[in-house]
Amino acid sequence: GKVAVLMGGASAEREVSLMSGNAVLAALRARGVDAHPFDPAEADLHVLKEQGFDRAFIAMHGRGGEDGTVQGMLEMLGIPYTGSGVMASALSMDKWRTKLVWLAAGLPTPRFHLLEADSDWEAVAADLGLPIFVKPVHEGSSMGATKVTEAAQLPDAYALAARYDSLVIAEAFIDGEELTVPFLGDEVLPVVRIVAPDGNYDYQHKYFTDDTQYFCPSGLPEAQERDLQALIGKAARVLGCRGWGRGDLMLTADGTPYLLEMNTAPGMTNHSLVPMSARVAGYSFEDLCVRILEMARL
Ligand code: DAL
Ligand code: MG
Repeated sequence: GKVAVLMGGASAEREVSLMSGNAVLAALRARGVDAHPFDPAEADLHVLKEQGFDRAFIAMHGRGGEDGTVQGMLEMLGIPYTGSGVMASALSMDKWRTKLVWLAAGLPTPRFHLLEADSDWEAVAADLGLPIFVKPVHEGSSMGATKVTEAAQLPDAYALAARYDSLVIAEAFIDGEELTVPFLGDEVLPVVRIVAPDGNYDYQHKYFTDDTQYFCPSGLPEAQERDLQALIGKAARVLGCRGWGRGDLMLTADGTPYLLEMNTAPGMTNHSLVPMSARVAGYSFEDLCVRILEMARL
């Protein structure tokens, strides 16, 4: 049947989503899938039914795509879709509530404060230590995020994040390796280790520069790699994720992991990490896209 590759949308990650969506579209077509691009910012999703689409591949990032809203609409239309359902998508889009659930499940995540315009910046800095990451609660790709190195920078960092979101979180910086671990169905894929220049893996480094180094295989000892995969499996399970996704975490020098966030519709651009890890597990980009599509459900 006809497959709609949903891409674009109106979120701050629109540009990234278009790159992901076009890559997915080409891969599915290369495998003979009758796939068509569909941008919910340009056409109403309701027409998917009339136009005879019977599955949707969600290649949208951020709000109005990765956050349960499109998933809910597809539920109403009765069109099976890739990735997590409504609840897990909404929960994972919310970095604050994700952390609350992980903590309740006994899973490790960096300490944090919710910030307000009148927060006591000195107290926040004293409690979390410096540096601190300030981020909008519902954004991806480091949009609106700042790594703050002095308490005096907190108000500006808050103001920037608050432009994206009414909820802003300050998270303790974990000094260590930056890692990301995808899952595909019940299989947790190989760990990717990220080494960004000066430790700043920001929007520019995620998509537009070539000076970030990625290691997959990660080079970590095998037992540690397995433990991290098990941790991501649990982290995804408690959030209710399914199909595919990618958990981000930090690993300190003494081997303690800290979960940062879960991405339920991760990037599929040529800089993206799920395809890189999948390749090491033996899945070409086309295999990966087809496998994700095969798991589409209501
Ligand atoms: N939010 C971006 C797309 C990612 O996690 O890959
Ligand atoms: Mg993200």
